This record gives sequence, C-alpha cells and structure tokens, in this order.
Amino acid sequence: MRRATVLLDKAFTVGRTDPRLFGGFIEHLGRSIYGGIYEPGHPTADSRGFRRDVLDLIRELGPTIVRYPGGNFVSSYNWEDGVGPTEQRPRRLDYAWMSTEPNSFGTNEFIDWCRVAGIEPMLAVNLGTRDPQDAGYFVEYCNHPGGTALADLRRSHGWEQPHDVKFWCLGNEMDAPWQTGAKTADEYGRIATEAAKIMRWTDQRIELAACGSSGRNMPTFAAWEDTVLQHTFDHVEWISLHTYLNNYRDDTPAFLASADLMDLFIEEVVAIADAVAAKRRSRKRIMLSFDEWNVWYRTRRPPESRVKPGWPVAPPILEEIYTMEDALAFGGAVISLLNHADRVRCACLAQLVNVIAPIMTETGGPAWRQTIFYPFAQMSRFGRGDVLRSRIECETYASSYYDPRGELENVYAIPAAPYLKLAAVANDNGGLSLFALNRDLREEMAVTVTARGFGDLTVAEATVLADGDLKAANTRDAPERIRPASLDGVRVDGDTLVLTLPPASWNVVRLANA
Ligand code: AHR
Repeated sequence: MRRATVLLDKAFTVGRTDPRLFGGFIEHLGRSIYGGIYEPGHPTADSRGFRRDVLDLIRELGPTIVRYPGGNFVSSYNWEDGVGPTEQRPRRLDYAWMSTEPNSFGTNEFIDWCRVAGIEPMLAVNLGTRDPQDAGYFVEYCNHPGGTALADLRRSHGWEQPHDVKFWCLGNEMDAPWQTGAKTADEYGRIATEAAKIMRWTDQRIELAACGSSGRNMPTFAAWEDTVLQHTFDHVEWISLHTYLNNYRDDTPAFLASADLMDLFIEEVVAIADAVAAKRRSRKRIMLSFDEWNVWYRTRRPPESRVKPGWPVAPPILEEIYTMEDALAFGGAVISLLNHADRVRCACLAQLVNVIAPIMTETGGPAWRQTIFYPFAQMSRFGRGDVLRSRIECETYASSYYDPRGELENVYAIPAAPYLKLAAVANDNGGLSLFALNRDLREEMAVTVTARGFGDLTVAEATVLADGDLKAANTRDAPERIRPASLDGVRVDGDTLVLTLPPASWNVVRLANA
C-alpha cells in the first residue's frame, strides 16, 4: 500500500473558481452539431431541431459557457452564411475538415440552444481569411440593439433583442500551419489589435481573448505569447491555451503524468503575461482562457483519419471512444485547472458531443455518456468555491511523455510526478470537496487528509471511478460499463480523514460539517 498525506487550511486559498472554468466547446466539425446537438426529425427533437436527450445530458454535464463556431472551422467561416432564411443559406466547402457545410445551423440557432441549455455563449471571429471590419460587423449583428443595417438585419431574422454576447475569441490557433490563414506572431498581433479596437468600439462591454499557442509543444510557444501580448496587451483581457493529452505510446504512467505539463504550461503563460505587464509598469493581469482541453489522439494522426473523402456533410470524424484510463488522465487535467483557479478563469472542454466528446449519439438513436463525462460533471458540480493550497507528501515517479506535433516528435521528461494528484475546494455551504487521482497502477493508496478550519467533518458522498480493465469504455450497447461507484472505507475523525484509493482511480469525496 502506498501512503500520502495532505494538509489543507481553509485560510490558505489559491483563488475562487470562476463559473466560466467549467465551459465547453461546439464546432462545425463532424457530427458535433449535425446529428449531435441538432437533428431535426430525431424522436426527441424539439420544434427547432434541438435534441432533447442531448440537452438533458448537457444539463447533467454542466458546462457553463460554450465556445462556437470553431476551432479550425472559424478560420474560413463567413458568419453571414449562417444567418437569415435557412433555405437561402449557401453550402460551402469547409477547408478545416474537408466537409460541406450546409449552414442550416448558425449563430442565432447557437444562441437559442445556449438559452435553452442555460449556458453563456462564447463566439470566435474569423481572423484567418477575414479582416477586422468583418469581426466588428459580427459584434454589431449580435449585440447592437437596432437602428443600423446589421442590427436591423438580426431583428429582421427574428431576433429582436440583442444576443449580448460578452466573451469573444480573436481567431483560433493562428500560430498553426494547419490553420486557414495562419500568421506570424507579429502579423496576428497586428490584426488582433485592430479587430479588438473595432469590436470594443462596437460594444464596450465585451471581453476579448487573444490566441495563445495551439499547444505547449509548438516550436514557437512562449515567443508567440510574448509577441502577441506585446501587441494586444492594452486591448484584451484574456490569452488562450490549448492542450490535448495523448497515449500514443501506450505508456499509461506517462499519460497520467502528462497533466502535470498543463500545470507547467499555465505557470509559463502566466509568467510571460506578467513579464509583458512588468515591462509596461502595468498592474493589469491578463487572465488565461484554457479554451481547448481534453484527451485526443486515436483520431488525430495521421491527418487523413480526420477527413472523409468527397466533401461529405457532417461525416463521423474525431469520434474518439474514451476508455477508463482516458478518464484518469482527464481527471488529472481537471485537477490542474482547479489548482490554477486564480489565473485560469475560463476553460472549455473540447468538445461536447460526438467529436472528442463526453456525450455520444447515434443519428436517429440514443445518446450516452463516455468515461470522461463523469470527472467533468463532478468538477462543474462540486468545484465551485475557493480552491485551497494543498500540501501533499507522496512518492513520485519519473516518466517521459511523447507529444508529437506535425513533423516534430517531441519527448518531454516528467521527472517527479506525485502518485497522488489532488485538488481541494472549500464550497460555499461550508463543506469541502476533494478531487483525487491515484496514479499508481498497481497499489492502493492510504491518504490522510488534515483539513484545518473546517471543524468536525462528516462524509456527504464519496465516489470512485475505476475498472480492472483500463481499456474499457462505454458504448451504445453498454452505456454504463464505466460509471462512478461508492468509495468505501472513508474514515473521519474531527478534521482528519483517511481514504483508501484503489489503484488507477479517480475519486471525489465531499465533506460537510458534522
Ligand atoms: O477541437 C478540435 C480542433 O483542435 C480544433 O478545431 C482546433 O482548434 C484544434 O486544433
């Protein structure tokens, strides 16, 4: 049995979790929208074509803000194609995913879907093939009340009231060679600045996110953030980060350790943003929007695996089937995000339905939860409050993580990953939620947690996600093969708690005042 101790004090906090930390992402990509959230004719579809079975699962998952319409898709998207009478909307080639985009779902439908789901919309503008003025026009169409051509166009389309979209992304992954209209950091910094100016002049209440690197594994990472923020610092509130964890090498210990590179990535971007601030003697703090994160690798390489020939509409691409071990790595990412709640104030799980997603559907058939559904739903439900600094004593292990990007076969050393990865959140009801990942694949772990300042504790609920087969997954025919079970043997004595975590397990323990 492995052992770990955790010391918490209610007074020692990292920061408060912003509700936007629990966001998601929906792109015009594969069956994410068509056959995912939107399927007119499906037995559960409402009058607008929104699948109600999917909406129920979305509400259970609990994303608070959703990014749209891409992703790579946005970098050649004309937002005008997706508004107005559906029968008049053009069909277009989508260069990002080599598909035909029918445009039967667009911005107004997305806003309606968000309202029905109780979600804040986040929109991205195209800075790949379009210019700052078009970005400003998009804000005007969405947010201006009326009395101008574009605001009145929205009203004529049936949306009298402004959409009042607050959060806007200035393009997507503009550093990436695969991006339509990719740019150098200086080129992007200039166009993002000019777009930001027009967008904010159009609506002063909006918040703007500049594109950071499309991954820490990009050769231009860090220099990109520095240059882009030198240009955009006075014009944006946010910088974005993207990470997809992988297990290409079937090296599960390294896969489970890889979330620790997200911690490093976050801390590095914070350092760069604050260095740019220091050079300007500015007290402004740029916040981090981790607006794409997940596990994704099986349907990622080679690029042909993402593309079906013949420019189909909504082909089944990027339909990653998530296993038990994916849920563990994913849980590690959840902990990394929570533990940086002071600066990561927004994050979007990429994505939500069918495409690298916690929710899968069959066209015309049922919807079900993938393994990664559970850690996300628990984070969104129980991660609200003040994240505590966790002092963890635990043995560590070394691994090396393979993280290719394009032609680059990157390998990163992770010299000391603690077997226990944990986040603790003091909830507003006086309780405490613990999110704990046992990364030891063979040994149980006895964890002693001392939680100062909470008085006498009692266990409200303790669950574990684990399975003897790390490659097990939920499928249409076995949709509940992997689901949380009760974690037995939790003992509490005053402010001290002893847990026994099974090997390779994701655990959520909720404590209340006795
Ligand atoms: O989420 C899938 C894709 O991953 C997005 O379109 C892109 O931004 C990223 O490379």
